[in-house]
Amino acid sequence: MGKLDGKRALVTGAAQGLGAAITEHLAEEGCDVMGWDVNADAMKVTANHLSEKTGRTIAGREVDVTDPAAVRHGMEDIIQLFGRLNICVCNAGVLISGDSLEFDVEKWRRVIDVNLVGYFITAREAARTMLEGMGGSIVQINSKSGKRGSFKNSAYAASKFGGIGVTQSLALEYAERGVRVNAVCPGNLLDSPLWVESLYSQYAENHGLTEEQVREKYVQQVPMKRGCNYRDVSNVVIFLASDEAGYMTGQAINVTGGQVMT
Ligand SMILES: NC(=O)c1ccc[n+]([C@@H]2O[C@H](COP(=O)([O-])OP(=O)(O)OC[C@H]3O[C@@H](n4cnc5c(N)ncnc54)[C@H](O)[C@@H]3O)[C@@H](O)[C@H]2O)c1
Repeated sequence: MGKLDGKRALVTGAAQGLGAAITEHLAEEGCDVMGWDVNADAMKVTANHLSEKTGRTIAGREVDVTDPAAVRHGMEDIIQLFGRLNICVCNAGVLISGDSLEFDVEKWRRVIDVNLVGYFITAREAARTMLEGMGGSIVQINSKSGKRGSFKNSAYAASKFGGIGVTQSLALEYAERGVRVNAVCPGNLLDSPLWVESLYSQYAENHGLTEEQVREKYVQQVPMKRGCNYRDVSNVVIFLASDEAGYMTGQAINVTGGQVMT
């Protein structure tokens, strides 16, 4: 028996990284899952792979969370396929770091557009569907950078701080109508594609260090002396999505090995 047997879930940014891992864990707990991503080819490969691995229905679609019409259409597609939506995990995100004095404003806006506006668009569209049905749980993948500033990372931190404002506000709006809205704030997923393919090199430049030194520096900042892993995060997502978290809404839960405590 899974903890979420018979539930239908949406995960955004599900083609790779944390989104793919959350999709897999939701399926293991008994969910059928729709994954959305801007990377259509990777989304298709991931959906097929996880379908075979878990034996659940896992579909993938090309949906850009910054496009309200695409999100509306994507939600209609979910209802057509699954008949309902119980869980929505807003995971899609981008990170562009850099010196604030040099930072291209268009890139700054892009980070806000995906991480903050895209979250709002997806969450309120999911809520529309859930409020018409039997309620549901919306979980935003936030970050420890949603709780405190991040060095040469003002766009990302602004988008994630803002996300907590959206989480709390939507939670208040839907509290009496059966839709809960919470966020998870992970620490650094040091083995994820985001770090391996992009952040080690960005931060090496920002800090004037080698990539190996960057990794060691970030491990040493964690009281538990290790990076965050996908299961650390998806365990909390599963809990928040389940009825066990039925009295929780508007929360932003740190999963940081003790690095952030407020
Ligand atoms: N990797 C980390 O250390 C870390 C730490 C804390 C929080 N997070 C958060 O976790 C989430 C996932 O991060 P990740 O490390 O798996 O990153 P990732 O870059 O590996 O995956 C993000 C996915 O989102 C997709 N995406 C980007 N823009 C999109 C859009 N407009 N519409 C739909 N899909 C879009 C990408 O194509 C990609 O598949 C993000 O919200 C990120 O901020 C990551």
